[in-house]
Amino acid sequence: MNKGKFISFEGIEGVGKSTTIKKIQNYLQEKGIEVCCTREPGGTEFGESIRNILLDNNTNITAESESLLLFSIRNQHINEIIIPNLDKGTWVLCDRYIDASIAYQGYGKKVSLEKINLLIENFTEKIIPDLTIFFDLSYELAMKRFPKTKSKDRFENLSDKFFDDVYNGYLKIASSNANRVKKVDSKLPLEDVCTQIINEVSKLLK
Ligand code: TYD
Repeated sequence: MNKGKFISFEGIEGVGKSTTIKKIQNYLQEKGIEVCCTREPGGTEFGESIRNILLDNNTNITAESESLLLFSIRNQHINEIIIPNLDKGTWVLCDRYIDASIAYQGYGKKVSLEKINLLIENFTEKIIPDLTIFFDLSYELAMKRFPKTKSKDRFENLSDKFFDDVYNGYLKIASSNANRVKKVDSKLPLEDVCTQIINEVSKLLK
């Protein structure tokens, strides 16, 4: 049996990732492909419980401790969910993956990229996405979309400068991994965003 494909979705908050992922799931299922949708931080029972701690505004931890927790969640997720699904031919759509650690903890919180790369090299079982979709939307525009009534978690409460650094980090990741990471213009209406993604995803069907 052919292995499934692994697609990750990245971008700052408020870019419309979750809604779009559901549409891509439908598109693939209509083609007869088995799909597993999952997310980070989370994806396993262990990961979801640590996610709650990570997003809790009362949690007070260093950026390095946070990075280690994220990679602990990721390692469990890879072994429990991602690899078994890919091995049985199921495609895995993952809301955030390694690039989020480079963008948020690295470029955003200034954990050295060398340390993060060390974690990627040693604790991700060499599982790199076949395709990464980067929702390209500046922080300024993303903020306008953030629901005014929604209460903010520990990440969403970080400063404008932090999110600007994260966004610029994503741009650097996209340009240095141009074969894997495809930028999608997320200023456009949702339908157009989906069309751009389907265009990239359909290349994996060949
Ligand atoms: P996400 O589930 O995308 O949040 P939401 O559903 O509120 O949009 O991710 C939760 C937060 O975790 C998000 O602010 C980004 C952060 N994060 C990191 O900082 N590093 C990582 O490696 C991952 C996977 C997420």
